[in-house]
Amino acid sequence: MGESNKAIVVGASPEGASDQRSAARAVRAMFTSIAPRYDLLNHVLSFNVDRMWWRRTARTFRHMLARPGARVLDLCCGTGDMTFALRRQAGKSSPQVLGADFSHAMLQRATAKTAARAAKTANGRSVPRWIEADALSLPFPNDHFDLVTSAFGFRNLADYDAGLREIARILRPGGECGILDFGEPEGALGSLYRFYFKQVLPRVGTMISGVRGPYAYLPASVERFPEPEEMLTRMRRAGFAQASWTPYTFGIAGLYRGKK
Ligand SMILES: C[S@@+](CC[C@H](N)C(=O)[O-])C[C@H]1O[C@@H](n2cnc3c(N)ncnc32)[C@H](O)[C@@H]1O
Repeated sequence: MGESNKAIVVGASPEGASDQRSAARAVRAMFTSIAPRYDLLNHVLSFNVDRMWWRRTARTFRHMLARPGARVLDLCCGTGDMTFALRRQAGKSSPQVLGADFSHAMLQRATAKTAARAAKTANGRSVPRWIEADALSLPFPNDHFDLVTSAFGFRNLADYDAGLREIARILRPGGECGILDFGEPEGALGSLYRFYFKQVLPRVGTMISGVRGPYAYLPASVERFPEPEEMLTRMRRAGFAQASWTPYTFGIAGLYRGKK
């Protein structure tokens, strides 16, 4: 898709999807199909930089995580690595950390990881809980959460504006949101990165996962995702103040922040 079309994009559109409902169905099926190898692929394809991005995002919100009894939701949590990073950053404070995703298979992996970690640390700290839910229609009341995050999930929503409105709805006034997602770096690094992202990554991803499709969808979905300025405009329109974008690793990824 060309640059000029980005402004009218409403959300993710995997190949073959004809409307928002079929796009969401295709996205869920895709993540369900790669769930068994998702963590391995993530770390291999990002050269482990993903861990740094999750940690950095969690650190950004340490002031919220330190609040006693803070309610924290990690949307599109997948196998839970962003959620665990938030829990780790909270340290001795005890926020209620919840991870939500609409792929049952991804949540099963998150649950298994929780059990393994709890058994290892046994320090009595609260562990994340998991809920199967669609980010576009969340089963939570208005003004409920102090912090809502999403790592590499928001880009997959079938309607970005509806996703932002839903986050704004469930955040309490003064609550914050952090959306971590891929970007497109510019210059010489950008060209190199695009070659890796479009030519190498889909091949390696398909080889390791054994599933054709999802790793071709990834670069296409990043290309389709709004540019930072456009995304910030959408955030403001959805009711977020102090909307900002911080590039991570030369803009390969970046964190959008906003306050309700
Ligand atoms: C690329 S994974 C990211 C997982 C995790 N946050 C991470 O950083 O590794 C995207 C996740 O978003 C989930 N997802 C996509 N659209 C969703 C929606 N509408 N509602 C809930 N989850 C969704 C997928 O099921 C998938 O687990």
